[in-house]
Amino acid sequence: MTTRLFANIGELTTNDPTLGDESVLGRLNDAAMVIDEHRVLWVGAASDAPDADEVIDVDGAALVPGFVDSHTHLVFFGERSAEFEACMAGERYDGGGILATVAATRRATSDEVRLATSARARALRAGGVTTMEIKSGYELTLEGEERLVEIAGEFSDEVTFLGAHTLPEEFAHDREGYVDLVAGPMMTQCAPHVRWADVFCDTGVFSVDEARRVLLCARDAGLGLRLHANQLADTGGVALAVELGCASVDHCTHVSDHDLDALSSCDTVVTLLPGAEFSTRAAYPSGRRFLDAGVTVALATDCNPGTSYVTSVSFIIALAVREMGMTVDEALWAVTRGGATALRRDDIGHLAVGARADFSILDAPRAAHLAYRPGGDVVRQVFRATR
Ligand code: NIG
Ligand code: FE
Repeated sequence: MTTRLFANIGELTTNDPTLGDESVLGRLNDAAMVIDEHRVLWVGAASDAPDADEVIDVDGAALVPGFVDSHTHLVFFGERSAEFEACMAGERYDGGGILATVAATRRATSDEVRLATSARARALRAGGVTTMEIKSGYELTLEGEERLVEIAGEFSDEVTFLGAHTLPEEFAHDREGYVDLVAGPMMTQCAPHVRWADVFCDTGVFSVDEARRVLLCARDAGLGLRLHANQLADTGGVALAVELGCASVDHCTHVSDHDLDALSSCDTVVTLLPGAEFSTRAAYPSGRRFLDAGVTVALATDCNPGTSYVTSVSFIIALAVREMGMTVDEALWAVTRGGATALRRDDIGHLAVGARADFSILDAPRAAHLAYRPGGDVVRQVFRATR
């Protein structure tokens, strides 16, 4: 096993509160870190650094944990930029466009879908993402959803079955039939390939009762639960996520004080997706409000063709800081340890000894540049542990 010493780190964010300044960010200045192919072996002051097989002098750069993008819809095919233009011209997003992507994805060959997914995964990785969750949901047939979860599995271990993304056209007059299909045979077919199940629970899509039914079947199939909720309106999705103990409830754009209270006393993470508000010109949820209530907040790209064709986590950090009342450190934690918590993982999202050696060296002396230079190429080099 080759050991590598990263020397001369100007600012090291470990997300381990027992290290450095003992803040939640566990920050050290003038630091060093030693890794092997898999794990972090040592972290500390540059002056105390042990020997290693290889030394990499990062010349005062900042080093941050790899980003954990805990909500993406990366596996799709087709083109919807005209819908974005219409939205910018004043048309309201209502989720209806999902069917356009469903039609295009159904027509595409597996190699076409794979290639398109791979380009997006590459863009995310180049921007510092070392773990990405990927949802299905753009075929909505038994074989199609299985095909998408299998392709997603080529890119990530964090795959989510989202058969309940919308009602496909052929079931337009048979909601119950489609929910039966998703909760029954489709779940059975997809479960061996995925870790999670999710439902788009919102106005005009799936109701709380429909979502509950699908998620209870998912739990019976041994899957972890996540939920798209309260993006377009408060239809009760957040309360359902709390009721079922979902690992994460995502979007949360419209949340009542009552739901906020419930969220603050459970371990469901709120995953905010400001790329969606940005790209549909909607009002942002306040990250501050959730944090002040003691809720665990993650931030993710929601990379998808309809509401957030965003492949830059740095851009998400900048939005959270500029538009959602979060500090740079809160946003950085939310895209690293927050994302890991939303995926119920404790081996990623931080750089304590024993964590996976997933991190980025920035083209900057401080992590604050991630928000300070929006749209800039702040991530210089990404390291991802051999799995
Ligand atoms: O997370 N909300 C549900 N799904 C996506 C949008 C999907 C689409 O429009 O294609 C989202 O915003
Ligand atoms: Fe989404």
